[in-house]
Amino acid sequence: MAAILCIVVLLLAPFLSQAADPDPLLDFCVADLNASPSFANFPCKPTTNVTFEDFFFDGLMKEGNTSNLFGVGVSQGNVLTFPALNMLGLSMNRVDLAPNGLNPPHSHPRATESGVVINGKILVGFVTTGNVFYSKVLNPGQMFVIPRGLVHFQKNVGEKKAVIITAFNSQNPGAVILPTTLFGAQPSIPDHVLAQTFQIDSSVVHGIESKFGSPIY
Ligand SMILES: *[C@@H]1O[C@H](CO)[C@@H](O)[C@H](O)[C@H]1NC(C)=O
Ligand SMILES: *[C@@H]1O[C@H](CO)[C@@H](O)[C@H](O)[C@H]1NC(C)=O
Repeated sequence: MAAILCIVVLLLAPFLSQAADPDPLLDFCVADLNASPSFANFPCKPTTNVTFEDFFFDGLMKEGNTSNLFGVGVSQGNVLTFPALNMLGLSMNRVDLAPNGLNPPHSHPRATESGVVINGKILVGFVTTGNVFYSKVLNPGQMFVIPRGLVHFQKNVGEKKAVIITAFNSQNPGAVILPTTLFGAQPSIPDHVLAQTFQIDSSVVHGIESKFGSPIY
């Protein structure tokens, strides 16, 4: 019995280790953003160039700009904005939502997300691969988790501005934002594909596309 368990654990080990970014090989590796155009594998800044400033980031202090179609402002604290996160396997965002604001359905291909509501009343929901919708309205101090890769949203259902702080188990979680992915891609997905996908007329596709010509945030 113990031997079988051992074999199962050994077989699963490679998968378990892929649950988040790879483990670090050094204490830190402050990304030298100028050294490479790729964010997948930044080289480290020389240690002699690293200062205490590298380990602090004030990019989540300010309210995000919510003057857009959805009334959402996302401020990102990932390896690209906070290079000390390089190789450490986590990042954080600040999400500001105007009253009635929506962080539209999206997914993070490389990370599980957890978040805590700081201000406001937020409807959080996600859909599983089995098409089951889970949701709840959260108040300040309440936390949520979105399993990696699942489509989810956050909507401000209160009267006032709302703020959420989110955390990800990736230095660069990425975001696939459904409305812009499908209707704002450059070059665009052929109309007939979208019309067929949603069982709608091409004119409806054009109407939707006209709203997502440029990035929302
Ligand atoms: C490290 O610091 C030196 C001296 O200030 C500078 O010339 C060099 O460009 C820096 N290198 C990096 C990768 O930041
Ligand atoms: C907020 O974003 C809108 C739309 O992009 C822009 O017109 C406005 O100047 C921005 N406001 C601030 C305070 O940056």
